Amino acid sequence: MTDEIPPRRQLAFLPTPIVELPRLSARVGGPRIWMKRDDQTGLATGGNKTRKLEYLLGDALAQGADTLITAGAVQSNHCRQTAAAAAACGLDCHLVLGGTQPDEPNGNLLLDRLLGAHIHWAGPYRKGEDIPRLAAELRANGCTPYEVPYGGSNAVGAMGFVEAARELRVQMSERDFDFTHVVFASSSGGTHAGLLAGMRYHGLPLAPLGIQIDKEENGEPFAQIVERLASTVAASFGLEEPFADGELGLVEDYAGTYGVVGTGEREAIEMTAHTEGILLDPVYTGRAMAALIDMIRRVHFSDDDRIVFWHTGGSAALFAYADELLSR
Ligand SMILES: Cc1ncc(COP(=O)(O)O)c(C=O)c1O
Repeated sequence: MTDEIPPRRQLAFLPTPIVELPRLSARVGGPRIWMKRDDQTGLATGGNKTRKLEYLLGDALAQGADTLITAGAVQSNHCRQTAAAAAACGLDCHLVLGGTQPDEPNGNLLLDRLLGAHIHWAGPYRKGEDIPRLAAELRANGCTPYEVPYGGSNAVGAMGFVEAARELRVQMSERDFDFTHVVFASSSGGTHAGLLAGMRYHGLPLAPLGIQIDKEENGEPFAQIVERLASTVAASFGLEEPFADGELGLVEDYAGTYGVVGTGEREAIEMTAHTEGILLDPVYTGRAMAALIDMIRRVHFSDDDRIVFWHTGGSAALFAYADELLSR
């Protein structure tokens, strides 16, 4: 490793467990499936962002920050975990949330409030467009803010998933797991990029299947975002060769409108809950599991394949989606 790796502030309970899902496999009629339980990272109901925040908080504290700012959707799991990380480190936290204030705070928004975050409403802007303006305002008021990018997805945050790839490799060798595919939700790209760089660095020969969650918007193509971040992170370990398109394992077919729960998500959430007693989330893991179920039904995998589904968390958002989840 190079010495450019940022300091790390421990926030998560690691390693997260891996459990087999035999009843779900049987219900779908496919190969064996395991689940990597990052919904159990432990920080105010857990999730994948905690891994990124360990490095982002390490960096923020090293820079002498007293305030974190980040952004996301009203039900952002990233914002909730950032608010919890800030509280755990004695920092102030400002969240710039898309939309307008709802009548009732629910799900992650309720938790943001309980965790003491200051909430700013940004209308159509949920991806941090307002962070620099707010940072300037806080600086003018004497604060030392640290800007956590949307989704925690920069080269610092992605380091959490380089480390996660090492964790998976250790678990595979200790417990005799020999997975063939790793399936996960991919949205701001940091989980995906960190895993790609980490799997290359730690020599993990798994096929990545990053299920693209958000429908492509007008900006930079998502594949390019993942490729650039993965290549930057890998280069920081001296692995200079850029990732080719075919290496990304980006599955674009299931991308949809952000935050809209359809029949696929509903089936996946219900099936996983009914067969295994495990709660997915309505926005990310519900859609990623719906994709996995569909790919199994379309015979994308062979019977001998051994799939690990990375549960990236988010069940706190279920409470804000009661109508969509229960109406039929
Ligand atoms: C539960 C959950 N899963 C997956 C993701 C996607 O991770 P990333 O933004 O690193 O692509 C997120 C991002 O917010 C999330 O909250």
